[in-house]
Formats: sequence, structure tokens, C-alpha cells
Amino acid sequence: MKFDKPETTNPIDQLKVVGQPVNRVDGPLKVTGAATYAYEWHDPDARLAYGYPVGSTIAKGRITSMDLSQARAAPGVVTIVTAKEAGQLGKGSRNTATLLGGPDIEHYHQAIAVVVAETFEQARAAAALVHVTYEEAEGRFDLTAEKDGLGPTESDVRVGEFETAFAEAAVRLDETYTTPDQSHAMMEPHASLAAWDGDKLTIWTSNQMIAWSVGDVAKTLKIPPANVRVISPYIGGGFGSKLFVRSDMILAALGSRAAGRPVKIALPRPFLMNNTTHRPATIQRIRIGAGRDGRITAIAHEGWSGNLPDGDPENAVDQTKLLYAGAHRLTGNRLATLDLPEGNAMRAPGEAPGLMALEIAMDEMAERLGLDPIEFRVINDTQVDPGNPARPFSHRQLVECLRVGAGRFGWAARDARPGTVRDGRWLKGIGVAAGFRNNLTMKSGARVRLDRRGVVTVETDMTDIGTGSYTIIAQTAAEMMGLSIERISVRLGDSAFPASAGSGGQWGANSATAGVYAACVKLRETVAQRLGFNSKDAVFADGEVRSGDRRVSLAQAASDGELVVEDTIEFGDLKKTHQQSTFAAHFVEVAVDAATAETRVRRMLSVCAAGRILNPKTARSQVIGAMTMGVGGALMEELAVDARRGFFVNHDLAGYEVPVHADIPHQDVIFLDEVDPMSSPMKAKGVGELGLCGVGAAVANAVYNATGVRVRSYPITLDKLI
Ligand code: MOS
Repeated sequence: MKFDKPETTNPIDQLKVVGQPVNRVDGPLKVTGAATYAYEWHDPDARLAYGYPVGSTIAKGRITSMDLSQARAAPGVVTIVTAKEAGQLGKGSRNTATLLGGPDIEHYHQAIAVVVAETFEQARAAAALVHVTYEEAEGRFDLTAEKDGLGPTESDVRVGEFETAFAEAAVRLDETYTTPDQSHAMMEPHASLAAWDGDKLTIWTSNQMIAWSVGDVAKTLKIPPANVRVISPYIGGGFGSKLFVRSDMILAALGSRAAGRPVKIALPRPFLMNNTTHRPATIQRIRIGAGRDGRITAIAHEGWSGNLPDGDPENAVDQTKLLYAGAHRLTGNRLATLDLPEGNAMRAPGEAPGLMALEIAMDEMAERLGLDPIEFRVINDTQVDPGNPARPFSHRQLVECLRVGAGRFGWAARDARPGTVRDGRWLKGIGVAAGFRNNLTMKSGARVRLDRRGVVTVETDMTDIGTGSYTIIAQTAAEMMGLSIERISVRLGDSAFPASAGSGGQWGANSATAGVYAACVKLRETVAQRLGFNSKDAVFADGEVRSGDRRVSLAQAASDGELVVEDTIEFGDLKKTHQQSTFAAHFVEVAVDAATAETRVRRMLSVCAAGRILNPKTARSQVIGAMTMGVGGALMEELAVDARRGFFVNHDLAGYEVPVHADIPHQDVIFLDEVDPMSSPMKAKGVGELGLCGVGAAVANAVYNATGVRVRSYPITLDKLI
């Protein structure tokens, strides 16, 4: 099904099941431990062996020797695979560094061997006996040092004459903000069980994008994609870390091929930080010029970040093209080459760190103008793409988010003078920030089966990374087929199923359910045809199909055999005429200890406008999870770079701090009514990343309001406040 014009009315609009706060259909499996996560798969013949990775202990250079003899002789060792044994490997189209390195070393903890043994403990013990010598080369690990000399590039986007307008502006701001390297730090590590059957490879793993993985495993191992099956039905968090094939899949596959047995491997926690990917640190310079009336006339946002050769920048400037009005604009990314581990997508790549800077700048600018921060944002609202005024937003309720939130949060009672409100030893403050994230869409397919029990089974390689995909897909099929949700069975995360949008970029919910919608439209037509009904007037409700005075149960419709159809939603060019984005307003109250500068978050509210909310319960969970991550980004999260050795020092959950329950207070989430016919037949958009975008700055602005200290370098640890 091609989606290329605004959607009119369709069966989803009934909202009997879609839009309801349905409990997770996979919840019981998860809370009873019956859901099989990647490391919990076993092979029935118990021929399973365990792999353990060996990581490079230098960041850049060459391996000069590898002595495997002691490791090979260790108890239980089955085989050891290095780049030499593996032969020439390819590189997945989404990988920056080689997943099994050597002799050249591209980054610290790049995998250089996998040891396969009878037990996990034996593999781990033997891995410590692999002796490697290196010739170390000098690496570049310091973004600040590399920043100088990285100026404007051809990819800068310019509208009007920024420099002139900025110079002429009555009120100006020119500040620099920094965000650190961050780790996804999800609960479940990357883990894979690989098994070969002749030249056919099956990998049970934990991955967000099944079809991408099949392609990249095939490319890396130089085998046909048709010989690769990837299975990932349950995922213990990803945040972008599992968008791509990582070393666990490749090491398990190579280890299994060499051992002639299924091999299972989970990356040890330190490998998550230094072997896989992270969100790159940024330095962001923001310049804003405005008239005394508060109208922005000039806005520039330049972002610096680093990555390995062939890597991408952390694109922190994109939202600044679209969020506020202003005739004269400049945005640009500057990319340094760094020899740190690979930088790649982490939840709301670009906008998350971009808004951490931009939304402090807006708070600072409002203060310089003597304006309330909400009023300053309202004055500079735009209903069209400021770089192309002929292109309106399909829906933009930023002002409504701010106004509704201000009312609910009690903004009117805020004292704008910083450092003036006390509660005993605590300095209290509240802050606000806008949230923005584009609405991406991705082609997505699904297969639906109607069986003689009247049960509809949905099969798609869509993944559920804890987001609720199983549930909203079940809701979609139930709504379309007129069934209760108990009559829907959902099977996800298997490359044997039709390729879907996958889970990424907050495109998953809208795109994947739209694919299920398309398949269900086809199933409705097939059912109507089989029954001799006119598919135009056939009504699917209460487990029946009705047309004129005839009514037949869906079970009856499939009594001659299961009906199986498949379709894919493809998105046309609506994005060219209409900008599709999601908006939020985040409100935070903090208390800062006047003596120790310990910061406690006391209250949080996010108001989101993101199209139709398919399930307010799972969507709320997405947003409160994102708000929590935002607190982490504001106050704690930071990968500490050892600029001498080129690695992240705090490579575990003891040293890489994230919020725990005691750090998180009452959180409130409001979804504004919105239905976006431009986004898909579901009229939904995404909230998973929106919920994070802007939260960090709302915390920073609240800390400023509480203390009068403007911290422009995240995380806002207490040393920066004293
Ligand atoms: Mo997201 S960073 O596309 O999982």
C-alpha cells in the first residue's frame, strides 16, 4: 500500500481498541520469566559452547604478536578465532570499525579474538591467557584539541545573511555549551547465539533492526543474505545501541563455524562502553540575535563532534533549522577524526544533545530580553519551516504544550529572580524547555493469518525493545478485523517474517502499525471476497463480518483453510510538502542544597503533541522512561575519556551513573489531542525520543532558577555549582 496523500477516515478511527490504555500483551511472559531473551536460548542437543571476546588494550596501532598457546591449552577450550583464522571479513554498511580487528587496531576494546570453550567460565579464564603485543600509534582522543581549525563546511545550511543580522541585533547571545560522551547503558548487554546448518546461519540475538542485521551479517561474513536468519523476539533495551550488527553476532557466528557447534556470547559490560558504540560528545556554539520586542532575527547553531574515519557527526543542530522563527539562520556540523570507540545513534541522536544546548540558550536569551521564557518561545513560534515558508508543519502544537504545561505545573507562581526561593536548606527553582523531534517514517511490512478458530496472527520482523510494539500491533489488528485483543497473536523479531520498519528513530510505532494496517486491509478484502461480500460495505465487528442482512463469523470465513496475506506500507512524498515533527514542553522543579550543591529533582511534567497516541499507557511509559534518561543526561551521565590511552574509563554501571528510583520524583505526562492525517493511516507519530528531547535543558534551567549559576557543560555535577 502506498501512502501518499493525507488519510481520510478508516477503521482505525473507531478507536475501540486502538487509543485504549491496553496492558502489555507480552507483560505476563516478561514478569514470569517466560520471555526468552538473547542469552537465554539453548540448543536442544546441548552441544552449546560459550564464547568470550578478547579486546584490544590499545586504541590505535598494530598487533605485532598474538600467542594463543596458553589459552588453547586451558581447560575446556574448543577453539580460538582471530582475524587470521577468520580470513578476510567484510564490513557491514552501518559499521564504522571492523568487528573482528587485527592486525590493525582501530579503537580500544576492538575485538581481536573470540575464545570458545565448554563453559562460560572456561572461556573467560582462557581469554585472559591470550598474550598480545602491540606497536602503539599516537591517537587523537580530545575533541577540544581537535576543534580548532574545524570551521564552516559546504554542508552548512544558510538562510538569509546571518552575520549581518546578528551584528545588527539589539540583544545578542553568543555562548558555547558542551555535552559529554554518553553510553546507552541498557540493562541487557549485546548477546547472540549462533548456529550453522551447512552454509545456513541462524543467530538468536538482541537487535532493533532485523533486516539491516541480516544484510550486514551477510556483508561481514561474505555470505548470501538468504543464508542468514536473525531472531530477536525480546530485547532488554537498546536506545540505538542495537540498531546495528555488533561484535557479539559476528564473534558468535565465527566461533560457531570454527567449533562446529552452536556458540553463545554476551558482551561483558565494559565492552558495551568501549567495544560497541556511544553518543559522541559535542561542543556547541549558539548565537541568537533578537529585537527588543523579543523577535529572533538571527540564529546560528554550530556543533563539533568526533568519530572514527568514515563515522558520522553527532548532528546536534538539526532542530535549530525548524524550532523557532528568524529570517537569518546558520546551522552546521563540524566533524573531527577521533580514535575513540565508534560513535553512533543513541536515543534521539542529534536532537537530544542539540536541545540540551539550544534550550539553555533560549532561557538565557529570554532573561537578557526581560521576557518570561515561555513568552519568548511563544513569540518565536512558527507554523512553517523557517527555511522554506511554503512548507507548513503538518501539526505543530508547541505553544499549546507550553500553555497547558504552564497551567498544570503552576508556572505563574515561579519567581524569575534566580536564587531567591528557599525551602529550609534547599534552594528551589523551576525551569522549562521545549521538546522537538522529527517524525520519521519507514517502509514496513506484515503478514496476517486468519485461522479457523477466528484468531488473527500477525507476523512481522518488527521488534519490541520494551516499547510496547507487541501491544500496539495487537491493538491495530484487533481494530481492523473487529476482534477483541485476545483473538490476536503477534509474532515479532524474526527475519523469516516480512521486513518491517524496525525500532529506531521513534519511527517504529507509527510505521510498523501502518504496515499491519495495510496487511489487514488486504485481509478484509480477502475475507469479503471469499464470502462473496462487497468489500466496500462489509463491516468487521464483534468477531463477525456483516454485509446487508448477512453476517458470518471470522472463524467461519476461514473454515475452508487459513487465509494468509501480506502487504507493505510505503511512504510517498508528503514530507516534501509538509514538515512532520513532534513537540513537547518539559517542566522541572529542582532543589539544590545551599551548602553541598547536591541537586534533587522534585517534580517533572512533560506535555507532548505527537499525533494519535496508539496506547496511552505504553506511550506514557515511553515518556517517563525518557524523562528519567533526561535527568541522567542533565545531572550524571558522562563517559570519562582517558585522553592518554583513548578509552572510556568508567566502563560499568558502578562508574557510569544513571538515575535510580530514589533520584526520580513524581512524573506527570500529558498528551495533547492530535490526529495527524499526514503521518500514516494510523495518524500517529512517535514519542519515544521526543520524551527525552529538551528534558536536560529544563533541568539545567531549573538549577539556574534555583541557584543563579548557569552551567553550560553537562552533566551538572555539584562541583560546577560551588
Ligand atoms: Mo534510536 S537511537 O534510532 O534506537
